[in-house]
Amino acid sequence: MKAVLLAGGIGSRLYPLTLSVSKQLLPVYDKPMVYYPLSVLIMSGIREILIISTREDIGSYKRLLGDGGRYGIKLEYKVQEHPKGLADAFILGEDFIGENPVCLILGDNIFYGMDFSEKLDLVVKRTTLENKATIFGYTVNNPQRYGVIELDSDGYGISLEEKPINPRSNEAVVGLYFYPNSVIEVAKTITPSERGELEITSVNDYYLNTGELVVEKLGPGFTWLDTGTPESLLEAGQFIETIEKRQGVKVGCLEELAFQKGYISKNRMLDQAAEMKDTSYGEYLIRKYS
Ligand code: TTP
Repeated sequence: MKAVLLAGGIGSRLYPLTLSVSKQLLPVYDKPMVYYPLSVLIMSGIREILIISTREDIGSYKRLLGDGGRYGIKLEYKVQEHPKGLADAFILGEDFIGENPVCLILGDNIFYGMDFSEKLDLVVKRTTLENKATIFGYTVNNPQRYGVIELDSDGYGISLEEKPINPRSNEAVVGLYFYPNSVIEVAKTITPSERGELEITSVNDYYLNTGELVVEKLGPGFTWLDTGTPESLLEAGQFIETIEKRQGVKVGCLEELAFQKGYISKNRMLDQAAEMKDTSYGEYLIRKYS
């Protein structure tokens, strides 16, 4: 399985913060936003990842993350000239994805919860073996801002809507999606929506209609945050600060996850931590592992 991480877009809801800085590089408490979705991919065991961003910003991502060797993964980069929509990821990523199934994750989404790693393992296996697509539903009180899925009493999807004014349910579709390789062709067939974007909801609708869409629920014990507005960005930072201080853990610590997965040695992790020894990030790894 390969993955595409979308880190482009305009970030207009965060102006003037994002007039000269890419949204996904903004800090969420103690690390850049993009660390959080990248940590989900490392947790999923996906080691080949394409990062997509704008022509102006792609260099900053290369400087931050390099070829991925620091985390035992392989990173490639691609420019998206215009923010054509989320489904453009599969068209831009066609050569990179090749014949493989693919995961798409949005660079401004944060996931945190128990047993997430086990759930991801299961979804990666199912996508690879059964050729089905998987999306995740999360109950929110403002579904108008998101793609919304209506479920029947057995948890099967009935309908999908993009940013509906009168949503049929409170079940938002989160920014993490798993698809069989056919998604490349599906993305090529969909037409832009009224707002001119290739909508991921249109892709999901295709799989819903062919009976190849699985909807996994992320329960109330799970936290899903997006960081697209000043309020949600601040709340996400406060959430991470609270968890990290209270529980003595680090959320989205790429070196730690790479070590736990066996991608890098303990010595390598500690050498990298030493470069940041005067920060809580570096100090955490040194205290916990040396
Ligand atoms: P959005 O939050 O929908 O768009 P945006 O980031 O441009 O923000 P705003 O609405 O405030 O202008 O995008 C969701 C994520 O997907 C975000 O991380 C940016 C990324 N994205 C791309 O990389 N390319 C695209 O074409 C689009 C639409 C989004």
